[in-house]
Amino acid sequence: MSGLIKIGHRGACGYEPENTLKSFERAIELKVDMIEFDVMQCASGEIVVIHDETVDRTTNGHGLVSDLTLSDLKKLDAGDGEHIPTLYEVLDLVDRRCKVNIELKGDQIAQKVNLIIEGYVKKGWSYDDFLVSSFDFNEIREFQKYNNQVQTELLFYEPADYFKIAQEYNCNIIGLDMSLVNQEIITNAHAHNIKVFVYTVNDFKDIEFLKNLGVDGIFSNYPDKLL
Ligand code: G3P
Ligand code: MG
Repeated sequence: MSGLIKIGHRGACGYEPENTLKSFERAIELKVDMIEFDVMQCASGEIVVIHDETVDRTTNGHGLVSDLTLSDLKKLDAGDGEHIPTLYEVLDLVDRRCKVNIELKGDQIAQKVNLIIEGYVKKGWSYDDFLVSSFDFNEIREFQKYNNQVQTELLFYEPADYFKIAQEYNCNIIGLDMSLVNQEIITNAHAHNIKVFVYTVNDFKDIEFLKNLGVDGIFSNYPDKLL
């Protein structure tokens, strides 16, 4: 993959309900290189694709994802009649048409997510089809215990010693909030052989600015704006 990596944030959530199959299909139609989505574990143990710890903001239900079974979750409307998908359902829909960036949101799900990835690799996917990211660096370390073939991305929402931490965690991709990015960071990252992805960028002017800085990837709710 060369040039700017165009990443559909929660699919194409500026156009369709976030983290739903409809949103992922739309992102693929809009020619993303990669879709990003958030995963956690529900009460019955399945890995489901949802951003918040509760279902309140994105569905017509209430409560913690960790207190609800898959059958409870499937009854909810996640927007436009869409349902909260499982990780399996998303990977089946994607079917290698773009790469997937799986953001680990819940605790202690790394092993389970890895087992799912391994299952798809056995079915013909490549490790390179996946990227695993998290703000929780312990989860990244945990994931790396099970899998050293899938690339991992450390996410930052505040200033930090990015390159030292990236080295410590053996990651060559960092994901930075737009407010953290400047030319010095990008130049330094590249000098350290680290790629920088930037979230979540929806404004044409910001996209242009970041392209000029030479960032490696951009997450957008409107991925067609990245073309
Ligand atoms: O991976 C980038 C972005 O998804 C991180 O923030 O809160 O949208 O998951 P959030
Ligand atoms: Mg995310």
